[in-house]
Amino acid sequence: MGYAEVYDRAVRDPEGFWAEAAQDIHWDRPWDRVLDDDHAPFYRWFAGGQLNTCYNAVDRHVDNGRGDQPAIIYDSPVAQTKRVITYRELQRQVALFAGGLARLGVEKGDRVIIYMPMVPEALVAMLACARLGAIHSVVFGGFSANELCTRINDAKPRVMVGGSCGIEPSRVVPYKPLLDKAIEMAEHKPEHCIILQRPQGPGELMPGRDLEWNEAVQDVEPHPCVPVEATDPLYILYTSGTTGKPKGVVRDNGGHAVAMHWSMKHIYGMEPGEVFWAASDVGWVVGHSYIVYAPLIYGCTTVVYEGKPVGTPDPGAFWRVIQEHGVSVMFTAPTAFRAIKKEDPKAEHLKRYDLSGFRALFLAGERCDPDTLNWAGEILQRPVIDHWWQTETGWAIAGNFLGIEQLPIHPGSAGKPVPGYNVQILDDNGNPVPAGQMGRIMIQLPLPPACLPTLWQNDERFHQAYLSAQPGYYLTGDSGYLDEEGFLYVMGRIDDTINVAGHRLSTGAMEEVLASHPAVAECAVIGVQDPLKGSLPMGLVVMKSGVDLAEDELRRELVERVRDQIGPVAAFKLVAVVSRLPKTRSGKILRAVMRKIADNEPYQAPATIDDPAILDEIQQQLGRIGYAGAKQTTG
Ligand code: COA
Ligand code: AMP
Repeated sequence: MGYAEVYDRAVRDPEGFWAEAAQDIHWDRPWDRVLDDDHAPFYRWFAGGQLNTCYNAVDRHVDNGRGDQPAIIYDSPVAQTKRVITYRELQRQVALFAGGLARLGVEKGDRVIIYMPMVPEALVAMLACARLGAIHSVVFGGFSANELCTRINDAKPRVMVGGSCGIEPSRVVPYKPLLDKAIEMAEHKPEHCIILQRPQGPGELMPGRDLEWNEAVQDVEPHPCVPVEATDPLYILYTSGTTGKPKGVVRDNGGHAVAMHWSMKHIYGMEPGEVFWAASDVGWVVGHSYIVYAPLIYGCTTVVYEGKPVGTPDPGAFWRVIQEHGVSVMFTAPTAFRAIKKEDPKAEHLKRYDLSGFRALFLAGERCDPDTLNWAGEILQRPVIDHWWQTETGWAIAGNFLGIEQLPIHPGSAGKPVPGYNVQILDDNGNPVPAGQMGRIMIQLPLPPACLPTLWQNDERFHQAYLSAQPGYYLTGDSGYLDEEGFLYVMGRIDDTINVAGHRLSTGAMEEVLASHPAVAECAVIGVQDPLKGSLPMGLVVMKSGVDLAEDELRRELVERVRDQIGPVAAFKLVAVVSRLPKTRSGKILRAVMRKIADNEPYQAPATIDDPAILDEIQQQLGRIGYAGAKQTTG
């Protein structure tokens, strides 16, 4: 069956399609209904069914003869460590850690926040939660104590699991003090913290509350898998919204396991037993789905890489990992390839490695510019596939299908809709637009399995943010178009989020931080183009009159504040101080115009602008802070 047939079948008979895919999962009790639409537009997949995700990802492979196969290959150039964990060993570690969590009182439905670097123990902790039916929420290590605190207050974890530190190429990042500070600030207090002490930077433990990892598993009984409802949450993953309050995306157990398994074969063209590598972080959705759950549920070996594409130690790092661990298919963000291209444009480092077993590279997380895609294709001489998805869906909405039929690659396009997703382009009034015309990318309900059933304890926000724009459709928040042949082009966000190095960040949240500075009267944060990270946040601030603070000092303090309150991952370094913000006469800030000025794009000030002279001032200010985009214009 080719792509068109598979796609049509999934649209015509979603229940039959997904029921068949669900045969690849081990169920403790079969479902009553494949799709429960009693509460539409809230849908539930495999209602009445019971399973355990950890059993499907770990134990069942041991039961089926994969016990001695590597499940995890840990490769850390920054910690100078490599370790292989077989499925049997993973089962032992996960069962023990689940026992340790249970001994602290963690039960089915309890939340556990995990704040860890890219070490195998992060996966063990996630899988142990899944084993117990507890709900994990992983927080990326590059987020600040403040962001962690927000998530603690929302998820209300009974226990937290932390690593004592992360290791960045230039420095050791102590995580434990951030975890302590977050708990101190939070209204909700977790009862216990389990800390993995790393020799590079051990943390101080708080007696009574904190336990060291080894202590947590000492003398515990391995815990069996607890069957849960297919519709029970497996995890919560927070993602940036338009305000400072992140959205707690919920993932269920049943639909998720089915979609993860299906995707490994049909999208990525993998076979069980092969090595899959997603060079991301367990703190992001790519990490949840393609470092942890999908490869393990499918019986592959997954690579946990704690390093960067460049500088650890050189731009040949990816090729080394592919060769050394026999990676068949790799997945990363375009920004990683832009980083490699910048340092090694002729791909000299590639010549040192044998990539004969490597089949394809998948890119996602941000729009992939055709230059990067073409460059990667030329140096690798393999299919380089851009595919599009988001935290909310948990897997690709559009892509290419190595296990069904490889479609032609059109640089700039994220491929064709994945079977199960009915993707449509609508205008602001909800009418379909013709091929080739830009509009809002919407998905007709129901969404396929694995997509978010709701936001954590917030059906109302889920409905308002995603379902209310057009009844019967899910609003992706992206704009783009479908061409005559049905290829999708995803061009950008329609909300106040930006994509920095493949990470979605909220400009609204950054504005809240800037506005809280006592010297700031008004501010706006926009996303400006960056050749490496895709975009970077830039703050434009107006100082209160009469404040005695040098502009340089204000800039330094604002950068520090965003780093402290959101985290280094925001990469907030550009601040221009201006006398006013450009606005319409009705007071709307002209963010799009400022963005165009910064990006050196032609712009037209709207007739309703209150003071056109401010636009020249902005241009000059950008030049003054050394922003290259503005420099080019001002000569
Ligand atoms: N813990 C603590 N701090 C972290 C961190 C972590 N896990 N990850 C990143 N940071 C810090 C970095 O040290 C850096 O701090 P700095 O401002 O002091 O230099 C900041 O957050 C920004 O990090 P990063 O985005 O990694 O930028 P970089 O300049 O260090 O590296 C790239 C640039 C392109 C190499 C890097 O972004 C990269 O490898 N991207 C891959 C994309 C990816 O993994 N995307 C995930 C979605 S698929
Ligand atoms: P996140 O949920 O953080 O992974 O961010 C998801 C967002 O990243 C999407 O809504 C898009 O805006 C963007 N994105 C992800 N993948 C792609 C892609 N292949 N092409 C264009 N944009 C993408």
